[in-house]
Amino acid sequence: MGQLENRVILITGAASGIGRASALACAHEGAVVIVSDVSDEGGGETVDLVLKSGGKAQFMRTDVTKADEVAHLVAEIVRIHGRLDCAHNNAGITGPAFLTGKYPEEAWNEVVAINLTGVWLCMKFELEQMVSQGAGVIVNTSSGAGLRGLPYQCAYSATKHAIIGLSKTAAVEYAKKGIRINVLCPGFIDVGLTRQVLAKKPALEEKYKALVPMGRFGKEEEVAKTVAWMFSEESSFMTGHTLIIDGGASA
Ligand code: NAI
Repeated sequence: MGQLENRVILITGAASGIGRASALACAHEGAVVIVSDVSDEGGGETVDLVLKSGGKAQFMRTDVTKADEVAHLVAEIVRIHGRLDCAHNNAGITGPAFLTGKYPEEAWNEVVAINLTGVWLCMKFELEQMVSQGAGVIVNTSSGAGLRGLPYQCAYSATKHAIIGLSKTAAVEYAKKGIRINVLCPGFIDVGLTRQVLAKKPALEEKYKALVPMGRFGKEEEVAKTVAWMFSEESSFMTGHTLIIDGGASA
């Protein structure tokens, strides 16, 4: 029996990268996974991968920046499955690379809308459901850039810092209601956003690896197994915590 047997788990940004790996890891532990994303194609691929591995999953398309879509997502999960046990609020983007003083307002607004407002909107509707159940676990994806400045990525770094403040506040507010809320700060993971940046500037790969004491990028499975543990009873006394998984980079 897995650690997350029959838990109903929502994962946003699950069409690729860390979200997809999280879906596979949670399904491996027995969860019913709701794969959510704006990408129908990627979301469908994640569901196929979970089903092929013997797990349970379904895709629900949602843009996390739209309150009505997020409300509908949570309502649909509850209508079909009766509850929402855990949520990994993971959808996120980087932005274009500019000095803070030259950062385009449109890009700023887009990064804030997806990375910060999107996480808050998801929490808003997830928390109401979890309060009615008297239980729930939330994991929000921040980043190493949520712990220190990231030159040329002011919007990304600002939103990732803000996710930590948002999560700590909610963790304190909801601790007595049976809800745990923690933050995951991955370092360079060999997937998704890191690969998108390196596709534009391959020369950065060795420079980035040199920043990691373990000398390599993390694997998405390594992050995903940590997420599954954060959802499980194994971490039952942990809330309001910021968990860094970065091969020692922040040390
Ligand atoms: P990814 O690009 O593979 O995954 C992000 C997903 O979010 C995509 O599937 C995308 O379609 C989805 N998405 C974008 N806008 C959306 C919206 N409005 N509504 C719903 N879904 C939306 O990237 P990756 O790397 O897997 O990133 C996942 C999370 O991990 C992000 O929050 C990112 O900031 C964070 N992270 C990633 C690191 C890395 O090295 N890959 C390091 C630290 C943090």
